[in-house]
Amino acid sequence: MGTKIIGTGSFVPDHVVTNNHLAELVETSDEWIRSRTGIAQRRISDSFGTSQMAAEASKRALENAHVKPEDIDLIIAATSTPDCCFPSAACEVQGILGAVNAVGMDVSAACSGFIFALSTVDAMIQTGMYKTALIIGVDNLSKIVDWSDRSTCVLFGDGAGAAVVRACDENGQGIIGGQIGSDGKKAAVLSCWSRTMGNFLTGKKPEPGYIVMEGQEVFKFAVKKVPECVEALMESMGIGMDEVKYLILHQANYRICESIARRLRISMDKIPMNIEKYGNTSGASIPLLLDELNREGKLKKGDKLVLAGFGAGLTWGAVLVEW
Ligand code: COA
Repeated sequence: MGTKIIGTGSFVPDHVVTNNHLAELVETSDEWIRSRTGIAQRRISDSFGTSQMAAEASKRALENAHVKPEDIDLIIAATSTPDCCFPSAACEVQGILGAVNAVGMDVSAACSGFIFALSTVDAMIQTGMYKTALIIGVDNLSKIVDWSDRSTCVLFGDGAGAAVVRACDENGQGIIGGQIGSDGKKAAVLSCWSRTMGNFLTGKKPEPGYIVMEGQEVFKFAVKKVPECVEALMESMGIGMDEVKYLILHQANYRICESIARRLRISMDKIPMNIEKYGNTSGASIPLLLDELNREGKLKKGDKLVLAGFGAGLTWGAVLVEW
């Protein structure tokens, strides 16, 4: 039994915020942001919440897959920014879509979330429990960014991406293999805590926190861990990088992607990028890029793709797919 991606979709809010806009908020410049990250602009959601963005991307993925909402039996949403503690974003999407035969739940693995969700769904499909699943990567990071902190606020944007997968009998098609990992000892390197937890004794209300990050530590982690993970995956599958058409990387920083390419000894031609337009959309970045490639007709039947992510946790992971 295999798990095949049969459709993709994505959604980004209309509101474009350029680097020059940010230079009005904090001491930064378009030149600094572009040269350090490759980002020129990002989308910020004014009116759409996480679940609405996720539902829009999901509708497009279902349409692309020619699947009706009632045919989905599993929905997994990868997000760090659900609209509320509960219900889950996946359950909210289920309600919006009318996916009455599905079960919904969220996965929390920050920017690696879509890879974790894809691996989880693949494993669940392998057991025979589910046949048709909707996997969503969505984040509304602008709501947890400290807009006065120039070291983080220039990096992130909002968006959603989704993929529909289905159990298939054909050998060698769909998800060929995957590896995911985490290191909780490095949790403090990239985190978002509630600054003040609610307190029963003092009656204090909880206050939301903001993203805090040791940028250089994250950079070093990403450029070491991702190539290691991809190499280990490829070796375990007996497939060389020369057989892979695209390495679809989490869009966090152009320089991180360049460094990963160097370490894997592959050209940047194999690493599609859209960070310039959207910034780091966390859980959404990989399915958003996958959907762009799909809609541009760049993915052909039989193409081998590696999808790889990294982020808070720390977490990382890669999945090898045959399109
Ligand atoms: N504009 C202008 N200057 C800025 C700035 C900004 N937006 N942000 C930081 N700086 C300044 C710093 O204050 C520092 O100034 P100083 O030398 O006077 O102290 C200088 O630029 C260098 O800062 P540093 O943090 O060393 O820069 P860097 O080269 O490491 O680049 C990042 C910073 C965040 C771009 C880089 O570390 C990075 O991309 N890390 C990975 C982050 C990431 O991808 N996180 C998400 C992972 S999922």
